[in-house]
Amino acid sequence: MLNGCSIPGKLNLLQQFADSFIRDINLGVILVDIDFILTDISDVACKILGVERQGVVNCPVEDVFHSVPDEHQIVQRTILDGAVVRNHAVSWTNNQDRHELLMDSNLLRDDEGNTVGAYLIFKDVTNLRSLEEQVQRSDRLAMIGQIAAGTAHEIRNPLTSIKGFLQVLKKSFSQHQMNKEVEFAEIMLLEIDRINELVNEFLLLSKPKNIKLVKVDISTVFKEILPIINSEATLHNVAVYYEQIMDIPSVVADRELLKQVFLNICKNGIEAMAGEGILTITERLDHEEKKLCVEIHDTGPGIPGFLIDKIFDPFFTTKENGTGLGLSVCQRIIHDIGGTIRVGSKGFGTTFTVCIPYTERTNI
Ligand SMILES: Nc1ncnc2c1ncn2[C@@H]1O[C@H](COP(=O)(O)OP(=O)(O)OP(=O)(O)O)[C@@H](O)[C@H]1O
Ligand SMILES: [Mg+2]
Repeated sequence: MLNGCSIPGKLNLLQQFADSFIRDINLGVILVDIDFILTDISDVACKILGVERQGVVNCPVEDVFHSVPDEHQIVQRTILDGAVVRNHAVSWTNNQDRHELLMDSNLLRDDEGNTVGAYLIFKDVTNLRSLEEQVQRSDRLAMIGQIAAGTAHEIRNPLTSIKGFLQVLKKSFSQHQMNKEVEFAEIMLLEIDRINELVNEFLLLSKPKNIKLVKVDISTVFKEILPIINSEATLHNVAVYYEQIMDIPSVVADRELLKQVFLNICKNGIEAMAGEGILTITERLDHEEKKLCVEIHDTGPGIPGFLIDKIFDPFFTTKENGTGLGLSVCQRIIHDIGGTIRVGSKGFGTTFTVCIPYTERTNI
């Protein structure tokens, strides 16, 4: 019902507004009629849901999304029952791309208040959600870092004296030809070294104090760590290929920490390919983002979808002797220099991509 003066053409204008609104709006919009026929859909909705406008308008909703299991349906028949939905979070996967959506829906009524259909509006908040997860993760890392910094030294100090006295004991055992005891002492010393290594790794989670940020040439970093990677690979029957690009710009980072990142990721790849496989390390420049990216690909079994969000969590491990600190330490180091680590694993094989901002070359 139009109140006030009825201006000729007003309805027409509103209709035109509605038409262009639904096409241009940066939101997913879907209109359904009372028979659950899809009557209109916005371009953004088509893009997110992976459908073509002309192929779905005037089709029953059930036919449009017939391949989607009931529990993952985004347009449910219940929206016609008058259930008002506000900011409902749903996930939608379109060709391996997962979209996190925030959805509103409500009924559409005519002038007499009769239901004539319903609308559904959603916003793609995928980037916001991953940002939120990153913040949560770094909060957790910061907390663990604080605990680590507080307790690591308390563990290390007594360990140092235990180790010192044990070495003295071992010496006197061997002077008295107590071979069994020498052997026991050696095992204990090895175990102490293991605890020390763990504590060192733990300490890296707290902000390391003596970081030395310098210009680093990634290929020289790989030259130094390739012998270690190769020997680990030989042990596991894995072949390693390193595809270097010439004349790449440097990055600003702590050289030793960077070595640790690449060693950790390569070690994970090699360990995943128990038996045999190929580890490929490739360098690439992302000119748009001004980042140097290193891709580390393995031909292992891949990471199942339900675990992929967890692998960067501290202490998450699927290995009997793993600490689960490797990747969280890597992430901390790379985030601290403004970079990112991404992981992709689709069924078979895994690729970790480490991108670090590069420094523009000057002609000085
Ligand atoms: N390339 C890969 N292929 C398959 N799974 C992987 C790969 N890299 C990491 N993962 C999974 O992520 C988990 C966490 O890795 P992370 O390096 O943090 O810890 P870890 O390797 O288990 O232990 P640590 O590094 O301390 O020895 C691993 O246990 C494994 O399940
Ligand atoms: Mg690891």
